Amino acid sequence: MRFIVNGQPVQYRMDPDTPLLWALRDASNLTGTKYGCGNGDCGACTVNIDGEAVKSCLVRIGELEGRYVTTIEALSRDRSHPVQQAWVAEQVPQCGYCQSGMIMAAAALLDRNSSPTDADIDAAITNICRCGTYPRIREAIRRAARAQSGGEALAAAPPPAIDPADAARAVPAIRNVPLPEPQGEPITD
Ligand code: FES
Ligand code: FES
Repeated sequence: MRFIVNGQPVQYRMDPDTPLLWALRDASNLTGTKYGCGNGDCGACTVNIDGEAVKSCLVRIGELEGRYVTTIEALSRDRSHPVQQAWVAEQVPQCGYCQSGMIMAAAALLDRNSSPTDADIDAAITNICRCGTYPRIREAIRRAARAQSGGEALAAAPPPAIDPADAARAVPAIRNVPLPEPQGEPITD
């Protein structure tokens, strides 16, 4: 099956029943998308597929032929997305584990609803945060909506302290462990 991940055509040599979450993390090294429950309950694995927030643990790669997947790594290349800026302005994260899924869900919400009410936010963001950052998440979404509509200027989020590719190479947990051969590769034909 062939589909697009973060603007790049990919073809995974994996079982078509493989959850997208594992293809992204294990084959493409896109580890910003997190594994929480594997059952569709927590939202830590949320990505964007064709404009919708989707829990990637529930999607099999065999279902994705020709579709467009965007992960947290490509929400913006320079942290200029209003949701990212609002997240920094509100200092939303605590441990951070749920946050990439939260941000992807929030960005998809603002794509279809430029001025969500609190009820809209609560209905759309069903992700679980074990640290209880929900009040700051709601406020950050409100600020992102205002920034998106030009009603508020937000400071640019700071650049990454480390290039994501370097970060992946430097993760202590995997640095000294032989990694499997990458199974996702660009399509050139
Ligand atoms: S890991 Fe997918 S919803 Fe929890
Ligand atoms: S910030 Fe820790 S789980 Fe949400």
